[in-house]
Amino acid sequence: MSATTIAILGATGGCANASLVHSLLAGYDVRALARTPSKLTSQLLAQGLTQQILDQHLTIIHGDATNVDDVKRTLVSSGKLVSLIITGLGGKPVLQKSLRRPVTLDNPGICSSSIEALLSALRAAYDENPSTPAHKPLLAYVSTTGITNGPEDVPFGFRFLYHVLLAVPHEDKRKMEYTLKSHMAQPENERLLRGVVGVRASLLTGGIDYKAGKGWKTLRVGTEESPAVGYTIPRPDVGEWIFEELIKRDGGEWVGKIVTLTS
Ligand SMILES: NC(=O)c1ccc[n+]([C@@H]2O[C@H](COP(=O)([O-])OP(=O)(O)OC[C@H]3O[C@@H](n4cnc5c(N)ncnc54)[C@H](OP(=O)(O)O)[C@@H]3O)[C@@H](O)[C@H]2O)c1
Repeated sequence: MSATTIAILGATGGCANASLVHSLLAGYDVRALARTPSKLTSQLLAQGLTQQILDQHLTIIHGDATNVDDVKRTLVSSGKLVSLIITGLGGKPVLQKSLRRPVTLDNPGICSSSIEALLSALRAAYDENPSTPAHKPLLAYVSTTGITNGPEDVPFGFRFLYHVLLAVPHEDKRKMEYTLKSHMAQPENERLLRGVVGVRASLLTGGIDYKAGKGWKTLRVGTEESPAVGYTIPRPDVGEWIFEELIKRDGGEWVGKIVTLTS
């Protein structure tokens, strides 16, 4: 068993689900928040994980990622905080009658509101147990290209889709990233997290099947300052990259950076 304990939010989504599967197969202990625990269990069993692995290494917390208590129960077990948090939360795309903003989400503020809940949950955990801030967790979140402050990271053919049609979901991601950036700009003793890694993926393809990608080593990887620009990326590859580069290496050289990933 590894000393790293992981909390995963959004584990029934393709990216975080692949990170979860790789982590469980490698023997990590994972706490996953799910609105529908049976959905998560079915997804894992369908990918070949055994009930024994789930019983040994997975704790599913039934709850909502915008509820501070539910998030705190996910992050803390027997007074101990997890060491790594992965969030792949997102909303479901919904079409609306607007020429300017035709695509919205069922919950257009899910990423930003869940990050606020996460920070509040950590604050509450530290207040309850003053020794926990000595072991602050690292956070990795899945975000999107198209919201950069650096050089353009969307290929020419996708710019209308990204900068016009997807403006609503992107606004939420921007807000989430801004909240985290502002939080981490505080003096170290006021930060609730040890570090943050942003993972901006290009257009996601595929679904829930950790074996269905092309392999994390085939990916092109950049940063906000020097982005890897491409059209698409399979969800399983995003999850595998997070597992190999962030979970196994405790964030490695990516801590404090915003990474762009594409096939
Ligand atoms: N679509 C793209 O091309 C694209 C490109 C780049 C980045 N992204 C972003 O990348 C992230 C990961 O995407 P993905 O496709 O792997 O996952 P996804 O299909 O968007 O899954 C979203 C996850 O969030 C969960 N969730 C939503 N609201 C929740 C709540 N209030 N409480 C608890 N869980 C909640 C969902 O749970 P349920 O199963 O209960 O619904 C699901 O597990 C998302 O933020 C997505 O917007 C998307």
